[in-house]
Amino acid sequence: MPKCIINGKEAEFKPGENIIEVAKRVGIYIPYYCYHPALSIVAQCRMCAVEIEKMPKLQTACSTPATEGMIIKTTTERVKKNQRAIMEFLLLNHPLDCPICDKSGECDLQDFSFQYGDSFMRSSEERRTYVDLDIGGVIKKNMNRCIHCTRCLRFAEGVAEIHEMVAVKRGNNIEISTIDDRPLETDYAGNYADICPTGSLSIKDFRFKKRVWYLKKTPTVCEGCSRGCNMEVHEERGTVYRCVPRVNLEINKYWLCDEGRFNFKYVNSENRLTEPSIKSAQKFDFCDWSTAIEKSREFFQGKKTTVLVGSDLTQEEIKLILDFIPKQISVLSFFHYGTPGVLFSKDDGPADRILKMKSKTSNLYGIEKLGLTGFEKYSPQTGAFLVFRGGRASVPDLGGIPTVGIGVFQKTIIENFKIILPGTTFVEKDGTIFNFEGVEQKFKRAILPPGQSKNLSEIFMLWAHLGAARRAA
Ligand code: SF4
Ligand code: SF4
Ligand code: FES
Repeated sequence: MPKCIINGKEAEFKPGENIIEVAKRVGIYIPYYCYHPALSIVAQCRMCAVEIEKMPKLQTACSTPATEGMIIKTTTERVKKNQRAIMEFLLLNHPLDCPICDKSGECDLQDFSFQYGDSFMRSSEERRTYVDLDIGGVIKKNMNRCIHCTRCLRFAEGVAEIHEMVAVKRGNNIEISTIDDRPLETDYAGNYADICPTGSLSIKDFRFKKRVWYLKKTPTVCEGCSRGCNMEVHEERGTVYRCVPRVNLEINKYWLCDEGRFNFKYVNSENRLTEPSIKSAQKFDFCDWSTAIEKSREFFQGKKTTVLVGSDLTQEEIKLILDFIPKQISVLSFFHYGTPGVLFSKDDGPADRILKMKSKTSNLYGIEKLGLTGFEKYSPQTGAFLVFRGGRASVPDLGGIPTVGIGVFQKTIIENFKIILPGTTFVEKDGTIFNFEGVEQKFKRAILPPGQSKNLSEIFMLWAHLGAARRAA
């Protein structure tokens, strides 16, 4: 491999790699704004300029490929002076907004100002001001904070494949806008906020909800479709505030779709049943776990049962169901379910040209590996259904047959259901899933289950324990 020298350190590189990436690999960070590894390179912010031996002027590290024997310096007085000048320039129009800005705590402008800027500023001019504007359902725009790095423009063209963001006017009056101020149309709008290095584009749903330094971050996998994008859950005291992408160059690169990003909203929803519940007349009454399990046992006695397992469950949960349930009730057959129109993995495929897949559950491929087939119709002998659901799968038409549900159910989708044993969502458990390419992915629990909800293994332990106690009595 060819080598160059950065701040006296030898660094190997692949031909064509730029200096920012080569330096990162040997632990040297060069600050940058307009550069993003997944976007086209425009070299317009000049924050990344470094000294290269035999080149009279500073060179932008984002647009300069490393070459054999190149000697690069990133901390000389010339480099630092440039960084101070760029920071002063970028802050000329920037408001002192950090105390009320959602980007605060994870903002490059704030961090670089502290690390590379001056505490003194020569300008006393009045700053440009704009009002905050909604640009669609996901993003709010605040042009007072924009540094015109154009990452958002390049994301729209190069990744979201939609021409919806433009820079209007020029010079001091330049402004980022959607075309004719129309709402954003992409299904990937949340990524605008992630890539914006300042608080100019922020996620409306997260605005003013929580300072980012209070959030605990847990790596997880999106359950929104069979791609299984990698993401982080950000929570505090059991409340999930947002999900953000986690880089995985093989699966989702740097991105999430909005459907996956905001899927977590049902976790803390008031509509979610989090207590064991038994239906009487047209409403559900809460009860304790022992009563709910005893009633479930009685319910299944003498009934041939079709068991439907959501393809939103983990491999561990599905194996447990296949092992435990036939020992407890009379099972006619097991099927999986999840997405209307996608009964089997052969029905799955890309839903767009970016990330989304047709299967709206994450573990369709894993559940098929365990031998279950998709639910098409039930046998006429079916006297009851037992439905397992992780929180995402669409419950099929159960033909009015009485049903017990174990898992995550909203109050609105339970007409047939007689008893609900509340389970855990994807952020409340550890587990393994297989994505559409057969990649095995594990995820960790981020929060404790709310109310009386329990893990499947705990529910089954309680079920077995109560059964044993009854036999002994
Ligand atoms: S809105 Fe953000 S991403 Fe777009 S140009 Fe301004 S600072 Fe850059
Ligand atoms: S593409 Fe699928 S897995 Fe990725 S974020 Fe969207 S819903 Fe989640
Ligand atoms: S990051 Fe290199 S010029 Fe902006």
